[in-house]
Amino acid sequence: MSAVALPPIPRVESPPGFSPAESGFAMHKEIHEQPLAARVVARHYGRDGGFDRLDALDLSRIRRVRLIGAGTSVYATRAAKRWFETVAGLPCEAEVASEYAGTAACGEASDELGVVVSQSGETTETVAAMVRLREAGIPTVAVVNAASSTIGREADVVLPTFAGPETGVCATKSFTAALQVLARFALHAARRRGADASQLAPHAEALDRIPEWIALALENEPAVLEVLPHFDRARSALIIARGALVPIAAEGALKLKEITYIHAEAMPAGELKHGPMALVDSDLPVVALAASGSDFGRLAANVRQAAARGGRIVVVGDRAAILGLSDCVTTALTLPRCPDFVLPIAATVPLQLLAHHLAVRRGVDVDRPRNLAKAVIDE
Ligand code: F6R
Repeated sequence: MSAVALPPIPRVESPPGFSPAESGFAMHKEIHEQPLAARVVARHYGRDGGFDRLDALDLSRIRRVRLIGAGTSVYATRAAKRWFETVAGLPCEAEVASEYAGTAACGEASDELGVVVSQSGETTETVAAMVRLREAGIPTVAVVNAASSTIGREADVVLPTFAGPETGVCATKSFTAALQVLARFALHAARRRGADASQLAPHAEALDRIPEWIALALENEPAVLEVLPHFDRARSALIIARGALVPIAAEGALKLKEITYIHAEAMPAGELKHGPMALVDSDLPVVALAASGSDFGRLAANVRQAAARGGRIVVVGDRAAILGLSDCVTTALTLPRCPDFVLPIAATVPLQLLAHHLAVRRGVDVDRPRNLAKAVIDE
């Protein structure tokens, strides 16, 4: 473990009556543990430490990465695809384990790397996908929270996410920890493949500051409580985003489905007008993940189209993005203005809080939602 000087984590106050201790839900506690969990990841993997175990795989010879997971872990792989492609120049496939495990080998090659993501390390379909990778002669790296699980034991290399036990059915801190390990892994691969260190340094610095940005994102809790009434008549919701935030929109929609029982669908914002716009009316919350970067203009145009059709617009964005949409926003949650590279990690947090508090308002036991189990293990 390398010694990295990390910035302090700001103290987060929950609104009176809404602290994790008062709510009594493991999910709420685990959401609030994320700054600390992020610090543990930074300590283990900071400045390339913790990745020496990958040396045996010789990353310089890898030509393609096949990322595999299920549920929330799929969305971690989709976020990671962008990091591996943009910083390490490695083309990726992000595969759903149940699909990959059940199909015939097609085009796998020995210069591929398999990256298997799982909180529990026991999901049957993900284990099966890993077996298939191995049969195809592809070395496997497991990014797992339970390091001594089946996937952790069977992989060629294990990169633990160190989020600690997660008992709420919803993956929360394990997801943001997996994102951080994957982002750092992509940086490590880029270094091993000869990328210019000066171009990678800002990304590494941004990752070191993640505990602070997650803490700032948690400060949305009072604002989240104000957003809740806008969902009172909702039977469905849309979450729209562009680029790197699309997998985070998908993760947010999964959280809503799991514990609020609202049907939520995520999509790239540009897809709205290709069909889903027909759903928009004054009962439909449209959550827009908005960053004030180069994609903002196009996202704003999509948001305004939904607002013009009566949609209730909930913006989750940095201050500039919220201001830029002030003509059509119903209510907003604020993201810290952090570098684009790490924004997907910070943007996850307000959506977790939204799902949690909405579920509590609807009377759901968020730690034991109906029909779901923490680990999906087929007999
Ligand atoms: C969602 C959730 C599930 C799991 C999925 C895979 O909150 O927890 O979608 O992500 O069942 O589980 P792991 O990551 O343990 O393989």
